[in-house]
Amino acid sequence: MNTWATPQRGSGGYDLLLDLAGQRTRAGIEEALRAAVRDGRLAPGTRLPSSRVLAHDLGLARNTVADAYGQLVAEGWLTARQGSGTTVAARPAVPLRRPVPPPQDRPRIAPSDVVPHPSGLPYVLWPGSPDLSSFPRTAWLRAARRALTAAPNEAFGYGDPRGRPELRAALAGYLARVRGVRTDPDHLVICSGYTQAVGLLARALYARGARSAAVEAVGLPDTPTVLRANGLDPVPLPVDADGARVADLGPGVPAVVLTPAHQFPLGVRLSPERRTAVVAWARSTGGIVVEDDYDGEFRYDRQPVAALQALAPDHVVYAGTASKSLAPALRLAWLAVPPHLLDAVVREKRLADHLSAVIDQLTLAEFISSGAYDRHVRRMRVRYRARRDRVVEMLALRAPGVRVSGIAAGLHAVLDLPAQGPPLRTVLGRAQRLGLAVPGLSAFGAAPDHPPALVVGYATPPDHAFSTALSLLCDALAAGA
Ligand SMILES: Cc1ncc(COP(=O)(O)O)c(C=O)c1O
Repeated sequence: MNTWATPQRGSGGYDLLLDLAGQRTRAGIEEALRAAVRDGRLAPGTRLPSSRVLAHDLGLARNTVADAYGQLVAEGWLTARQGSGTTVAARPAVPLRRPVPPPQDRPRIAPSDVVPHPSGLPYVLWPGSPDLSSFPRTAWLRAARRALTAAPNEAFGYGDPRGRPELRAALAGYLARVRGVRTDPDHLVICSGYTQAVGLLARALYARGARSAAVEAVGLPDTPTVLRANGLDPVPLPVDADGARVADLGPGVPAVVLTPAHQFPLGVRLSPERRTAVVAWARSTGGIVVEDDYDGEFRYDRQPVAALQALAPDHVVYAGTASKSLAPALRLAWLAVPPHLLDAVVREKRLADHLSAVIDQLTLAEFISSGAYDRHVRRMRVRYRARRDRVVEMLALRAPGVRVSGIAAGLHAVLDLPAQGPPLRTVLGRAQRLGLAVPGLSAFGAAPDHPPALVVGYATPPDHAFSTALSLLCDALAAGA
């Protein structure tokens, strides 16, 4: 079983994904940590949560964790120093594999019809944005100051299109620790948001002869649009309660874009059987899986889903973004690219904009390395979980026929409307008149015969507007209003 730290304030508040394989004992923790260090997921120097925090997160006694740490220090896996906590001990570096050279032809560009972001209404429960009023301005400024002070002069020049080495190193450690991603800094490419990342991948795949890619039939509208704009025909893949129906992938489809940890927008996770099946599909056909892990940090139960990429790093491109964890305005995202695709993606990045803005990259590197990113994510996880609980409570009280789903993770919920309540069109019309922006599921590609549902982004309003937005939502949903 994967177990992941749940949110908590205080010192030593780092997240850590541990595979306890059902052994919730001191021996189980020791073995999970040894395995993580052995296979490189926890790099030398990585700081571990304090025994108090990890014990809380795992629901175990503090002594159990402290004893496991003590044993691993004695064995040389970890080091413990007064004042700086427990870290992974140094070990010899692993040689990197060299990427193969890229093919040379160019993708065709088609006109774009990117869906506009809703605006103009005073209350917004549209999914896709974190609470912008919670951007950690002071901590970010502190990190920017430190990063700028420490940056070498060459950082201000045209650098490596993959992005700054400081950020790639910090991310490789973070992604291994928190999402179980198996990569190294050389195989990470920093992009201007997921939107650019998926476009670069489409171009790289086009250059290798791909002309289509499967996408979840209900999903982020920009993904198929960006694929199409970069030469790939998007092929819709149905989604049900177990995630995308990957058995429908034909051998002729060269790639598939998925949101395995928390399907956008339905909120289901790709079932273990389908995770295995899509990896088997990729291995047997040479297909590429693009894993959009857009809100992987925000999981509210004790069983996080590790990144699919860990099952097949040579076939899965992992994509993460700072758009939910920090702010979309940063335009910072990252790809962990299999070695055989790396040069093609780097070439497209260089042609697109040479490299993403460096100063924010350096700041994010410092933000992650100092632990500020973990602290921010943990704080936000507590707040978003409280908001999610409010949504559920309020609806149970004021719109009891509405079924809320997709809420184990992320920043949005799906509301299935009851057959006996007002029809979806009426609810959307009322919301609009009340000044509330909230979409129906059809905004994300659901077929007209799909049961009526709303997608509610509960992270978006600032704290002072949240209660009103929620109340307006209940008004719009109320029967007979
Ligand atoms: C499913 C999904 N993937 C990725 C993203 C992030 O995109 P970007 O990094 O371009 O802001 C979003 C943002 O709404 C999203 O909903």
